[in-house]
Amino acid sequence: MKIVTVVGARPQFIKAAAMSRVLRRAHTEVLVHTGQHYDPQMSDVFFRELHIPKPAYDLGISGGTHAEMTARMLTAIEAVLLREAPDALLVYGDTNSTLAAALAAVKLHIPILHVEAGNRLGTMANPEEINRILTDHMATLLFACVPSAMASLTREGLGERACWVGDPMLDAFRFYRAKAGDQPQRTLPGLDGQEIAMPSRFFYLTCHREENTRDDAVLAQILLAMEGQDAPTLYPVHPRNREAALRLRDSLRLTKVKLLSPLGYLQSVALVAAAQRIVTDSGGVQREAFFAGVPCVTVFDHAVWPETMVGNCNVLASADAADIAGKLTLTPTWPTTDNPFGDGHACEKVVARLDQGIPSV
Ligand code: UD1
Ligand code: UDP
Repeated sequence: MKIVTVVGARPQFIKAAAMSRVLRRAHTEVLVHTGQHYDPQMSDVFFRELHIPKPAYDLGISGGTHAEMTARMLTAIEAVLLREAPDALLVYGDTNSTLAAALAAVKLHIPILHVEAGNRLGTMANPEEINRILTDHMATLLFACVPSAMASLTREGLGERACWVGDPMLDAFRFYRAKAGDQPQRTLPGLDGQEIAMPSRFFYLTCHREENTRDDAVLAQILLAMEGQDAPTLYPVHPRNREAALRLRDSLRLTKVKLLSPLGYLQSVALVAAAQRIVTDSGGVQREAFFAGVPCVTVFDHAVWPETMVGNCNVLASADAADIAGKLTLTPTWPTTDNPFGDGHACEKVVARLDQGIPSV
């Protein structure tokens, strides 16, 4: 079978790394990089470290409003699909690259395989929720990472096309964690060029959601919560809020919050596993915290990954310094039931389902 895979953003490179290894054993994959993430530390580093095959197409499309980015991707991906005439399109998650690719394919009657389908917040105010819902409803086969996502798809009448396979992020975490080793480097790359010494105890912070970064006052609350902790915080800054993070570090005179350049995946998962606690708004990082058994506070109004939100393992906090600080003191109780994210072989299950044949559109 010939599959066109479209990726564009950091977490999609990680999922594609795990999937491509399995998919390419028996199928032909044509990898397309939209260009949504393009800085070397947001893109190249993942291809290099994770040995992701070089994309056959690099569309170089990024930035602009949601509509501008999605529209430019839509026409460019349509041209690739017309040229390649694949048996199916494979997309991951909920980015603008995902939506653009799905929209191009559905109009060409190309079956869509959506991996990481079904997660729901319950509000269309979130840009990723819009992308997820629309992509799910265009898809031919939907692969849910967790039982709650499968239940949402069933509720929306998509159950017959959907199956629970587990989470490719767990596949990637298990596979690459072994390569990353337990000891992160001795120094880390500071955001303004200097090297930061690796602390023995630390908190790990990531924060990039539009909801938490469009207003300095919101990001300030998150940073102040971390400044009040008894150990430093390592914070690799997404390019979206680079300027704001530097500005706030200076205006709030932060000393315990260490701003870092975006990290490669191996370094990121090593820090996840070694952190005292994690504060994040990332879908990927909150799952990795759960996989690693490190307590997590998710600064967001909605639970995207409810399976992690048991026994104080992962708790929601509002973007308020006191709320975050309070949630950081909770004691977790780790579940002993079967892993709702699967057995680390989600990608094999996706490919096994493809091997049974893809229904026509
Ligand atoms: C996107 C996804 C989000 C995902 C995140 C992963 C959408 C709507 N959102 O959000 O689901 O969690 O990726 O990290 O697709 N930028 C750079 N250099 C880069 C990448 C981005 O400077 O390498 C800048 C862009 O020019 C843009 C801003 O960062 O101004 C935001 O990037 P964008 O891709 O629009 O959204 P993300 O916040 O990364
Ligand atoms: N990550 C990384 N470098 C960083 C920050 C995060 O490699 O500097 C990894 C992180 O470990 C996780 C993934 O990127 O595997 C999550 O991506 P992101 O937070 O950008 O997107 P989301 O998962 O929220 O869609």
